[in-house]
Amino acid sequence: MYDFKPAAALDPQELHRELFAAADALTADEPDGVANMANVAALLWEFLPVLNWAGFYRVAPAKTGGADELVLGPFVGRPACIRIPFGTGVCGTAAESRATQLVADVHAFPGHIACDAASASELVVPVLRDGRVIAVIDLDSPSPSRFTEADAAGIEALASLLAERI
Ligand code: SME
Repeated sequence: MYDFKPAAALDPQELHRELFAAADALTADEPDGVANMANVAALLWEFLPVLNWAGFYRVAPAKTGGADELVLGPFVGRPACIRIPFGTGVCGTAAESRATQLVADVHAFPGHIACDAASASELVVPVLRDGRVIAVIDLDSPSPSRFTEADAAGIEALASLLAERI
């Protein structure tokens, strides 16, 4: 049994240090990327308060061939849209720009894809391997302005830890 739980009332930076350590411990010896994404999605949900969705989109071939797109990966939350083209919505913008998207109000983001009507703010961090995007980590919150620069920095550290493990 794994019992990774955050201590009560941690400040956000400490919470992210504990999340990183738990993700490192769970994924270090496991070569299966799907298993690692599934466990990290569960850790994100466990450690970070006020979320309604936490998980991964992977870069994968389009159904009909052509350009790669984002395809739904392991997550916790309500069923979500399965395929997102690069450049579309918050996730597709993060993938295309290879840059973190910290969105205080998703309704003000052009092209935002509403998978869950409850989502109000969002943080999407690309996972880069050798400079190429292989996945994004997507966090949604029902609270406006839920995510901070500390969250962005914490999830970016997690993304680089996972680059060779998913
Ligand atoms: N809102 C995202 C789509 C994914 S769901 O939030 C899980 C977007 O605009 O890319």
